[in-house]
Amino acid sequence: MAKRLAVLTAGGDCPGMNAVIRAVVKTAINDYGMKVVGIEDGFLGLIEGRWHDLTYDHVSGILTLGGTILGTSNKADPFRFPSGEKAGTTEFSDISNEVIRNFERTGADTLVAIGGDGTLHICKGLSEKGVPVIGIPKTIDNDVDCTDYTFGFDSGASTATEAVDKIHTTAQSHHRVMVVEVMGRYVGWLALYSGIGGGGDIILIPEIPCDLEVVCRRVVERSRKGRRFSIVVAAEGAKITGGGTIVKKVVEESTDPVRLGGIADLVAGEIEGRTGLETRVTVLGHLQRGGTPTMFDRVLATRFGSKAVELAEQSKQGVMVALRCQDIDAVPISDAIAKLKSVPEDHHLIRCAVSVGTSFGV
Ligand code: F6P
Repeated sequence: MAKRLAVLTAGGDCPGMNAVIRAVVKTAINDYGMKVVGIEDGFLGLIEGRWHDLTYDHVSGILTLGGTILGTSNKADPFRFPSGEKAGTTEFSDISNEVIRNFERTGADTLVAIGGDGTLHICKGLSEKGVPVIGIPKTIDNDVDCTDYTFGFDSGASTATEAVDKIHTTAQSHHRVMVVEVMGRYVGWLALYSGIGGGGDIILIPEIPCDLEVVCRRVVERSRKGRRFSIVVAAEGAKITGGGTIVKKVVEESTDPVRLGGIADLVAGEIEGRTGLETRVTVLGHLQRGGTPTMFDRVLATRFGSKAVELAEQSKQGVMVALRCQDIDAVPISDAIAKLKSVPEDHHLIRCAVSVGTSFGV
């Protein structure tokens, strides 16, 4: 008998989620005659018993659509679900058994979960409790290990690059230093790619804590040479030597509770104070997660979605689809979440950026 799949999107949204859903549903129907059920709002839908059938009609015309037609949530970890409050603090409980019962009620043989590191941790937990899970790596941060790229990264980095391009106009016209804060909680891929792609003069990433003296010196040197503007591209998770990341708030019930923000303000304040050069800040925020996916992400999302269905048909479980040297492979979820994929300090893109005169503030 043909299999039945349940698909959900969890964690932060990003361009390409709908392209994956479309690929899963179309491949399941066209190649294997499977039925697909869509879980609403990520794991919250499995907790609250909300899902519906996904037909060809539901996914026609969504290839280029940003966001997710299924909805998502980053506050619904079945292993640590907010269950109430005691003395002003949120209490959590493990409701994974209820989630598993609900998954069984969907009638699906395999759960296809589209998400980042937090989602994949939940997948590993469910897989260890016997749920057949296949993961599909998404995030604009590109921090999931064992895959060359997550889908969503190319689109987010393209948006950030375009923003850095546009910031140049005001920087040049007003002879200002412009600090652009891009996303990237723990890793600097977004800042690195958009910094190189947008021609940033200084790139600040979490993996390389920066020395503000060096940053200021670079800005002043450029000014003395007649380049009367500078662009700094800073990952939200960038650090100053000896300091930590700047936490804006903590969302206790989230799968990744820390919300960052403020590094650009800090760096800009220091540059202006130490050099006397007018320095402004632009925080790109969720703009980077919005809009239509790039061609690269549409293709990657389609390949990921189709491969996930092929693996489900072969009764593979506990694996994540991954892009490895042009091919789409399956890797154990436990390997993919063993560590975050950060930027190695000797990465060829860092060497390349330095060769064209970009500083990392060290
Ligand atoms: O993980 C993706 C990401 O966009 C990070 O870059 C960012 O720190 C975080 O999500 C923001 O999450 P939220 O949308 O919940 O504020």
